[in-house]
Amino acid sequence: MERIVVVDFGGQYDQLIARRVRDVGVYAELLPCTAEKGRLVTDETIGLIFTGGPASVLDEDAPGCPDGLLDCGLPILGICYGAQLIAREAGGQVAASEKREYGSALVSYDRESPLFARVPSPDTAWMSHSDHIESLPDDFLITASSANIRIAAFQQAQRQLYGVQFHPEVNNTNSGQRMLENFLYRICGAKGGWNMKNYAEQAVKRIRREVGDGKVLLALSGGVDSAVCATLLQRAIGDQLTCVFVDTGLLRKHEAEEVIRVFRDEFKVNLIAVNAKDRFLSRLKGVIDPEQKRKIIGEEFIRVFEEEAKKIGRVEFLAQGTIYPDVVESGVGDAALIKSHHNVGGLPDHIEFDGIIEPLRDLFKDEVRALGEELGLPEAMVWRQPFPGPGLAIRIIGEVTEEKLNILRDVDWIFREEIAKAGLDRKIWQYFAVLTDMRSVGVMGDERTYDYTTALRAVTSEDAMTADWARIPEDVLAQISSRIVNEVPQVNRVLYDITSKPPATIEYE
Ligand code: XMP
Repeated sequence: MERIVVVDFGGQYDQLIARRVRDVGVYAELLPCTAEKGRLVTDETIGLIFTGGPASVLDEDAPGCPDGLLDCGLPILGICYGAQLIAREAGGQVAASEKREYGSALVSYDRESPLFARVPSPDTAWMSHSDHIESLPDDFLITASSANIRIAAFQQAQRQLYGVQFHPEVNNTNSGQRMLENFLYRICGAKGGWNMKNYAEQAVKRIRREVGDGKVLLALSGGVDSAVCATLLQRAIGDQLTCVFVDTGLLRKHEAEEVIRVFRDEFKVNLIAVNAKDRFLSRLKGVIDPEQKRKIIGEEFIRVFEEEAKKIGRVEFLAQGTIYPDVVESGVGDAALIKSHHNVGGLPDHIEFDGIIEPLRDLFKDEVRALGEELGLPEAMVWRQPFPGPGLAIRIIGEVTEEKLNILRDVDWIFREEIAKAGLDRKIWQYFAVLTDMRSVGVMGDERTYDYTTALRAVTSEDAMTADWARIPEDVLAQISSRIVNEVPQVNRVLYDITSKPPATIEYE
């Protein structure tokens, strides 16, 4: 399979570059600049893109690229830092600018350059740099300039080296997508055709090759990643797959039934559904400390999972729904940092497996969703909002009881129904109800009430690291509040949370 290797120098848009390349039909992979040449240049590589980065090529310990990479015979496009690195390695000069240039600039392009074919000129491009390229070797051609910088882009067509000082991957560069397309199709000779349909077909073949006639075990949580993973594996290896779904009793209304219905009845997955509600509830009895709740739930989950796995007997592979952003290595710093992430809060370590299968590790979250749609998963599962492993237990302040879980499920259901009705369900990153441990006085009819207070939390976010509270229209909030107090008898007060993260977190515990 043809691929573009995006060589990571630590810039903030690096993953976005890989995304943009995939968006126009070519598979792209982000690899650290510290990777060996043999990993970057393989039979499948058709071109390389050097990313931007926070360092200056003038620094003594500035990240570089493996020896001989510039002359590997494949086209290379350098972006910002990447362009400066190419210029300098080839014998040009880079100098520090007095002022950092940040923002939109009007750039004139040489449309004779294959990189700028069909690009209007002059046109707006996004700049974000401190250094600039001062001079280039004689056999290099300047292919774009702006009022601020003479060398906004360059090429050395024989050596297939191209560089741009601006960022074609961000939307603020008007023709950025076209430039990337030009690089891929005109310069690298890409065939294209990377889409979810053929990705699914290739993934199925790859899984079959990898698994052979072995058995695979997967913990199905009902979340997007594990659901898509299960569906893909089912298509590839059918009965060789066994999924274990642990119903902790901490899921939202109808969620457990839906997982069982879709996977067992519709997709005919070999599904072991364990009703472990009582086990979880009894272990959570009297526990109010949030960290202790998490710990208990994590431990109990593994315990139940292991018990079920042992009943199945020997299984060669454990499958996980790890996705691409979880495995990206950073090429900057002393050692490559590899984040490892487990959807279910930990791996069983008392069961032996020959290997781990991670069929989604090439995909971004929205690509996982697109794959889920391609495989025919229901919309509610494909577009499910993030849901924490410990479930509703960390949305109930204080002790978790069956009664409180039922109240919260009803409140949360109304909230989600009304958000969907208002057409906001894909606009808001995450929205859910919380049951506080506060009770307050109210009046209903002629009666005094003394009931629970719920809080509604809805946030917008890119990656959950920071978040802002969602500006839900007042009339939608009014409708939600009115339905909750009318339909859930144990609740007489509804609060809307207007704190951002930081300082608050998204979840309450
Ligand atoms: P916080 O509350 O830290 O949440 O702002 C950030 C995001 O992470 C989710 N979250 C979890 N997900 N296990 C998970 O799988 C957990 O223990 C957990 N805690 C928080 C949260 O829902 C939000 O999307």
